[in-house]
Amino acid sequence: MPTHHIIAIDGPAASGKSSVARTLAERLGFSYVNSGAMYRAVTWHVLQRGVNVHQPAAVANAIEQSRIVCDLIDNQSRILIDDHDPTPHLRDDDVNRAVSLVSSVPRVREILVARMREYAKKDNLVMEGRDIGSVVFPETPFKFYIDASPEVRVQRRLAEGQRDEIAARDRADSSRAASPLVIAPDAIVIDTSALTIDGVVDQIMRRLVGKGLPAHSKTLRSRDFFSRPQNFARSLVLGLASTQAECHPGRSGRQ
Ligand code: CDP
Ligand code: CDP
Repeated sequence: MPTHHIIAIDGPAASGKSSVARTLAERLGFSYVNSGAMYRAVTWHVLQRGVNVHQPAAVANAIEQSRIVCDLIDNQSRILIDDHDPTPHLRDDDVNRAVSLVSSVPRVREILVARMREYAKKDNLVMEGRDIGSVVFPETPFKFYIDASPEVRVQRRLAEGQRDEIAARDRADSSRAASPLVIAPDAIVIDTSALTIDGVVDQIMRRLVGKGLPAHSKTLRSRDFFSRPQNFARSLVLGLASTQAECHPGRSGRQ
């Protein structure tokens, strides 16, 4: 059982998970974990090693043999593999093409899910991915599934200048046997097609307050958020000001 609060954000490619989860984590003073980056990192690693990604046993073996170090740095997840930082390569075309295949291997998921659960021992988290609410932290009461129309999602990736076959990835992620992309039965679904990132985060904040996310979970950084006039005005609109008032000055919610 996690000892910290976990906010799970799942959804298909380019639904806005990363942007929303990062902003939400900043507002709450939680750490932000991008689980997709972990699958991308191990995918880059096996491609570097020349492993045939169509051979699940070879993929699993290569990842079992590697030294994976996961940490929270400046409230964000970071992964090192065999002392290499894969960050600059996570959105490479070959990684985009192979990541769904690599992440469909059950042993790969087992290894990375264990690392994701380790993060929950360190801090309160906003974690985003495909199966965070359904498989990684099924017991968390704070689950969101964010979506957008296929047309909007394709446009978002194009606007980023990326060659990413998101439809193929979504098909593979939804149809695989191991932890497919599903909407957890108790997840709140938000269609982000016509919403800005702040608009989505505002909706999630409102639902979290409604679900009783304790005010004491906030940290210094959330107090910084509320101390900015424009943000305090937004908190009044959302009915969050009372939770801010309960935040004792000088007390960190970090456990
Ligand atoms: O950002 P985007 O939605 O394009 O993808 P991502 O979150 O970086 O995830 C890349 C890939 O990793 C996905 O297409 C899935 O195949 C896999 N993934 C997964 O299987 N389970 C997760 N919890 C997160 C990602
Ligand atoms: O992590 P995921 O692949 O689900 O999406 P993302 O990388 O957070 O978002 C993909 C792109 O859509 C980014 O360039 C975001 O700035 C943009 N976006 C948007 O325009 N409106 C939203 N409501 C969410 C994301």
